[in-house]
Amino acid sequence: MADGAKIPEHGRDAKELLAGIEARHAEDIDWRGGRAFSLVYNVDDHEHEELLEQVGVRYLHDNALNPFKYPSVLQMELDVIAMAADLLGTEPNAGSMSSGGTESIFLAVQVARDHSRATRGIAEPQVLAPATAHPAFAKACKYLDVELVLVPVGPDGRADPVATAAAITERTGLIVGSAPCYPYGVIDPIETLAGLALDRGILFHTDACLGGWLLPWWERLGEDVPLWDFRCPGVTSISADVHKYGYTFKGASVVLYKSRDLLQHQFFWYDEWPGGLYASGTAAGTRSAAPIAGAWAAINHLGVDGYLRLAEIVRATSNRFQAGIAAIDGLRITHQPDLSLFEFGSDTLDIDIGAVADVMDDKGWNLDRQQGGLHLMVSPYHAHIVDQFLEDLAFAVANHGESRGVEATYGGVS
Ligand SMILES: Cc1ncc(COP(=O)(O)O)c(C=O)c1O
Repeated sequence: MADGAKIPEHGRDAKELLAGIEARHAEDIDWRGGRAFSLVYNVDDHEHEELLEQVGVRYLHDNALNPFKYPSVLQMELDVIAMAADLLGTEPNAGSMSSGGTESIFLAVQVARDHSRATRGIAEPQVLAPATAHPAFAKACKYLDVELVLVPVGPDGRADPVATAAAITERTGLIVGSAPCYPYGVIDPIETLAGLALDRGILFHTDACLGGWLLPWWERLGEDVPLWDFRCPGVTSISADVHKYGYTFKGASVVLYKSRDLLQHQFFWYDEWPGGLYASGTAAGTRSAAPIAGAWAAINHLGVDGYLRLAEIVRATSNRFQAGIAAIDGLRITHQPDLSLFEFGSDTLDIDIGAVADVMDDKGWNLDRQQGGLHLMVSPYHAHIVDQFLEDLAFAVANHGESRGVEATYGGVS
């Protein structure tokens, strides 16, 4: 038998446990120090963090499975959905909150599958997605037994409308685009792709898990943002994670639809159970109320002016990173990004980007390794560490040895 943990015979002292947990936690990634670039979005605002912690504690034990027992949670959830819907241009009640981007995508794929079956008579619908689409689509397709058809992207990293059009079949139930995609930070040509879908009566999903809570402010700052939301004819669903650039703690995303009719495909009703009618709107049964309350508090605390202020910091910091990296001899940004995340690499034979990452690891940075280079995603706190980062990166480029052969991985299984 494996040498695993066992339930202690006698319960352990709370203070002792907390001390032990704190010691172990100190070994985890140092996101507060700006050393993480993807897992946590450090808002760099103590009052905001404190508020979220307080709200989290208030709702820690509450269960959003039955919202009617928790009118306060129900109202906050309805508010978050309505605020997101207002931001992205759909009806105030045409969406749900979910636990994260993966669940939102799962729900959108399920809605498309069932909609295709019910309205277009497609027994086995396909999902058509650019190769850069998040693996959550592959995962959803696996769980939902839907075929995923991947389309290669163009040299700029964006979905290729011509190749996408050529890949459409009688069975295509959903076409996908990202705003932006994770690997390169580029926005797919959503207007064109959604137009293709519209012409053929196919649903279209914009994955704005990353951009949903940042692109609207980017646009208001005067950046040239191509259309990607419900203003695009043909876009029928959008995923947008509040736990990313919405700056709440983990467990909060929204999935929105063009109309509440589409959302109806997501709802689950079951009245064959001795326990009574079971109704559920998302994939989970029991749901923590804390992320709902946290998302509500984050959005209300920041408001439009707060989001604009943070977007300005993120934009300026991202520009500093990009200019600094491009100025290091031999490094280049692989695809010109539309937002605050990008990949950088090297075409020069004497720079081994894997070995550069090793040196950066040794210096305490946690850069994500991709197939074509290293990945950076900028949060407000990173404004404090850009110069140190660039100094260490220049050192790593000039002084790296052989790569230790660490593979490009994202996520993990225990
Ligand atoms: C573009 C995109 N879509 C979907 C997801 C999945 O989100 P989550 O990890 O919250 O499930 C991510 C996560 O980084 C993402 O970047």
